[in-house]
Amino acid sequence: MQALTHTSQFQQSNDFNNIVLERRSVKVYDPEVKISREEMTEILSKASRAPSAINMQPWRFLVIDSAEGKEKLAKLASFNQTQVQTASASIAIFYDVNNIEYIDEIFSKAVELGYMPQDIMDMQMQQLKPYYANVTATELHNMNLIDASLVSMQLMLVARAHGYDTNPMAGYDKEKIAEAFGLDSNRFQPVMLISIGKAAKEGYPSYRLPVETTTTWA
Ligand SMILES: Cc1cc2nc3c(=O)[nH]c(=O)nc-3n(C[C@H](O)[C@H](O)[C@H](O)COP(=O)(O)O)c2cc1C
Repeated sequence: MQALTHTSQFQQSNDFNNIVLERRSVKVYDPEVKISREEMTEILSKASRAPSAINMQPWRFLVIDSAEGKEKLAKLASFNQTQVQTASASIAIFYDVNNIEYIDEIFSKAVELGYMPQDIMDMQMQQLKPYYANVTATELHNMNLIDASLVSMQLMLVARAHGYDTNPMAGYDKEKIAEAFGLDSNRFQPVMLISIGKAAKEGYPSYRLPVETTTTWA
């Protein structure tokens, strides 16, 4: 069985409490700080360890890290100008409507790597193919949004472990983003935009509803 590796030349912190409790949505970044594509690949790869329904991993990332890309994005980013202009990169998260195309790869790789016995794969495939053939568009949309939201949260925490800050954003032109960057807008459905970089100005602390308000015990 292939082991997952945990070593990194980039990761800066493994302090879980700091990563989670000190995360703030950061709006202003140091524009001089670049994140190499090698490090960004590692960040995206760690974020992609997020769970997803049937392990289908429907998320797709558009990393906008070039000057031209940022200029194009700024036009679509309504009131979130500072984030997209100063961040090292902005990552547009999409989900892939045609993600089912990867089901054979996902399952057969799991068998090849020794993560899943062949007979379990065969059994699951037998159940899943008719499920996907009959699932409604709304059900699929909801499932994909949940999965893409989980990867987004994980991405923001991985970014913190790498010494960066983020801001999730819904304020951008979701109708135009895919096409503006040459992606098929029917296939790639927008989820959120996340800026990532070194904070130049700290994010504000924010109130959380107490657990007594948000929780029911049974
Ligand atoms: C889906 C989503 C969309 C958001 N959209 C924006 C946005 O467009 N612009 C912005 O400045 N912050 C945006 N935020 C950030 C929230 O305002 C922020 O997460 C919240 O106030 C809590 O603050 P914190 O992230 O610093 O803990 C968004 C957050 C989420 C989860």
